[in-house]
Amino acid sequence: MHLTELAHQYLEAHLHIGDLAIDATAGNGHDTLKMAELVGNTGKVFGIDIQTAAIEATLTRLTDANQSEQCQLIEGDHADALAALCEHHKSNITAMTFNLGYLPGSDKSVQTKPVATLRALNFAQQLLHPKGVLLVTAYRGHEGGLEESKHVEAWMLARKVEGAKIETHEPTANRIPPILWVYRT
Ligand SMILES: C[S@@+](CC[C@H](N)C(=O)[O-])C[C@H]1O[C@@H](n2cnc3c(N)ncnc32)[C@H](O)[C@@H]1O
Repeated sequence: MHLTELAHQYLEAHLHIGDLAIDATAGNGHDTLKMAELVGNTGKVFGIDIQTAAIEATLTRLTDANQSEQCQLIEGDHADALAALCEHHKSNITAMTFNLGYLPGSDKSVQTKPVATLRALNFAQQLLHPKGVLLVTAYRGHEGGLEESKHVEAWMLARKVEGAKIETHEPTANRIPPILWVYRT
């Protein structure tokens, strides 16, 4: 099974009508839309991306599916956006996704970087509801991808030592497989 499908299964298992969710790397909006469908119009989804093109693509996808009402799209760095959300939503977010790398179909010049990603993960940990789930997918085949995944792995291991439950999924078919971390408290 593709990791994005697996991530969506985790979202289905955790998100309910009325919940709050965050897509920290909205990209083309696939995860934002999935979250919006699951939380319904009484819930709320924050979709964050640093690129205008990604915010526009996500808004188009949400609007086409009639799911934009319950979404707030934030253009900017996810660490900064999550820091701001911490002011009102600490321990309130039921599901969060990070899909690391670059916008599919873009020139790859804008991609997630370890320092911002780790800073964002620290805020994500504070935002997560005690029964929530944090999903981080990393692609390791592109330049910088493997290095970034090692930083995330170290972050996950440190949380595991602190008592968090961490699962990993790596499809064996690929030569350099992507990896999905599932973090729960
Ligand atoms: C792999 S794509 C996400 C794909 C997305 N989940 C989808 O369904 O299409 C990674 C995204 O992260 C965004 N990004 C890179 N650095 C970022 C940052 N510091 N803060 C927020 N978004 C960032 C990129 O613009 C890109 O759209």
